[in-house]
Amino acid sequence: MGAIYEPSAAEESSIGSSTTVGVIVVAAGSGTRLGAGLPKAFVALAGATVLEHAIDPILRLPDPVQLVVVVPTDRLGEAETIARRVAGSAFGNVRIVAGGGNRQESVLAGLGALWPGVRTVLVHDAARALTPPVLFERVIEAARRTGWGVVPGLPVTDTIKRVDEGGRIEQTVDRAALRAVQTPQAFPKDSLLAAFRVAADRLATATDDAALYAEAGHPVIVVEGEEAAFKITTPWDAQRAERLLGERPVPTASTHGGEGTGRSTLRTGIGIDVHAFADDAELWLAGLSWPEERGLAGHSDGDPVAHAIVDALLSAAGLGDIGSVFGTSDPQFDGAHGDVFLRATRQRLEASGFVVVNVAVQLVGNRPRFAPRRAEAEALLSELVGAPVSVSATTTDALGFTGRGEGVAAIATALVERR
Ligand code: CTP
Ligand code: MG
Repeated sequence: MGAIYEPSAAEESSIGSSTTVGVIVVAAGSGTRLGAGLPKAFVALAGATVLEHAIDPILRLPDPVQLVVVVPTDRLGEAETIARRVAGSAFGNVRIVAGGGNRQESVLAGLGALWPGVRTVLVHDAARALTPPVLFERVIEAARRTGWGVVPGLPVTDTIKRVDEGGRIEQTVDRAALRAVQTPQAFPKDSLLAAFRVAADRLATATDDAALYAEAGHPVIVVEGEEAAFKITTPWDAQRAERLLGERPVPTASTHGGEGTGRSTLRTGIGIDVHAFADDAELWLAGLSWPEERGLAGHSDGDPVAHAIVDALLSAAGLGDIGSVFGTSDPQFDGAHGDVFLRATRQRLEASGFVVVNVAVQLVGNRPRFAPRRAEAEALLSELVGAPVSVSATTTDALGFTGRGEGVAAIATALVERR
């Protein structure tokens, strides 16, 4: 056990010193009953993993919290990729740690990764992947107000029977006083840690965190739970979750574009860029240097392929265009190459909740001959964008400014998906 991901000083969140709420998402189980052949948190439901669905509402809470994600040791890297994608610029609030052999050991590993300033900790099962944000808010509010342990629970609707080993009914239990409890469960952090220490030899058999906490003599109250916070345990549960996810409305692009009407979270974008040849310039095209070729003029390096891709990505995400985002006179982009713009663009998209699906770009011009370096350009651009980029090239049959050899144009389309 132990944290592999420690945010750098630069990445450590600015809220790190001020937030008093931490959420531990335990996702280190094997998912035996689901039987998908991989750990449950990494199973895909409606196009995203259980883990992504589980952490998304936590990262969008109005008051930011610290998030600790506990995963199997061999999934630390994958979990980091997922968390970076979902968290975007809030990744500084996230820590990822390896779990233990049972759920309570995984919780303990998570407790060890909380910031010192955290006073209230929520423990949540990744398997309750559809838990709505309102439940986190309700539990946090009740914990703050009472200073007690807080668990969400729903009235039991089935009639409950106590039976003997042979299955014979001994008693009908009065269900009015029963609650089926869920997660997230909230506790004062120091008292929960102390309760875990006291119960160190019984961790494997504890049913939930609230039971350990109550056994240590602390009060725990039940607040109203949510049907959607059901636990995905069996294939039937997974099908139910997938159906519910399919019925959810499209998140509306807060940045622009108004309300979506369909269900798709996919958005396309287009970008065009043109630069004129200039005798005193070096040629940079598709992120590559072309030392033997005549260069193109421009405020940055004049790379129309990179700039058309940037415009297509920004247009797909509704984030403006290269001029409005990076400016045409900012000295930090003077002579900057395509990689600088592409990395910065990808970061902006991720911070706004978008991931790139793919990009296609076409170069229009007589020179340079592009085919010999196509694979090299595609590999570099795909790496920078974080998704496949295909590059094609054409001439215009000696017509127009490209045909006369005055300059080069590029046209790009991008597909992005809103998380
Ligand atoms: N969990 C964990 N570490 C473990 C065991 C479980 O973090 N060693 C987590 C699971 O990932 C899950 C939650 O505890 O989010 C509830 O456990 P459960 O639904 O039982 O999940 P699994 O243990 O993965 O499933 P199964 O019991 O079917 O193997
Ligand atoms: Mg289990």
